Amino acid sequence: MKFNVIIPASGSGERFRTRIPKQFFQLNGKELITYTIRKFNSINSVESIVIATKKEYFKRLHKIIKDNKFQKVIAVVEGGATRHDSVFNGLKVIIPTDDCYVIIHDAVRPFITEKKIKEMMEVVKDCKAVIPGVKINDTIKEVNKSNIVLRTVPRKYLWEIQTPQIFEYDILRKSFEKANREKFKGTDESSIVENAGYKVKIIEGEKTNIKVTTKDDLKQFDINRFL
Ligand code: CTP
Ligand code: MG
Repeated sequence: MKFNVIIPASGSGERFRTRIPKQFFQLNGKELITYTIRKFNSINSVESIVIATKKEYFKRLHKIIKDNKFQKVIAVVEGGATRHDSVFNGLKVIIPTDDCYVIIHDAVRPFITEKKIKEMMEVVKDCKAVIPGVKINDTIKEVNKSNIVLRTVPRKYLWEIQTPQIFEYDILRKSFEKANREKFKGTDESSIVENAGYKVKIIEGEKTNIKVTTKDDLKQFDINRFL
């Protein structure tokens, strides 16, 4: 099995409120994205890593790749207006081989563990599409525009979804082509794979694999243990 990683890093981090996007935020002397790339660069079965970012950050990213000897990064491509476009730009440069899988992981989820990535690599052998999630523990309500509760949603079958998301190359490619034809955009890659009719398996993710969205996210737990 060959795994190719796409890291979308082309957002502007509005909610994080720094001049430079949060993926380049300094955390213990290194840019946040460094920790994310490192997790994948060190796994044997990862063949290549492609990163999508804004043109103005190409130089900065190339320096990170060189300084940290991330030899598996084969390309830095320009991101798009949406995450969907950024990931698709990354997918376009992957040359598929036999038994080829694509892993998509947010640049701003540096706390993912190698253990979880490897577990998912095993699971995807059988199901061809796997995503991590955490079960919802709080009560979920649906409301109207005035925040009046319409109903309480049964939470037994509800999951909050994270990345990395892993798909067989052909499944992902075909799903993107269908989504692009239909102008369908999802908030994650799994949505477009589901839209193309493929089955997607959820496995239990890690609570610590948070998406860094606001500065408060970095105060939630002892982040140093996961870098
Ligand atoms: N992303 C991307 N291209 C975009 C938008 C987002 O590659 N056009 C990436 C981000 O860089 C991040 C991931 O998708 O790694 C998850 O997005 P999010 O947390 O929403 O990041 P931002 O869009 O940068 O943040 P915000 O929504 O607060 O502006
Ligand atoms: Mg965003």
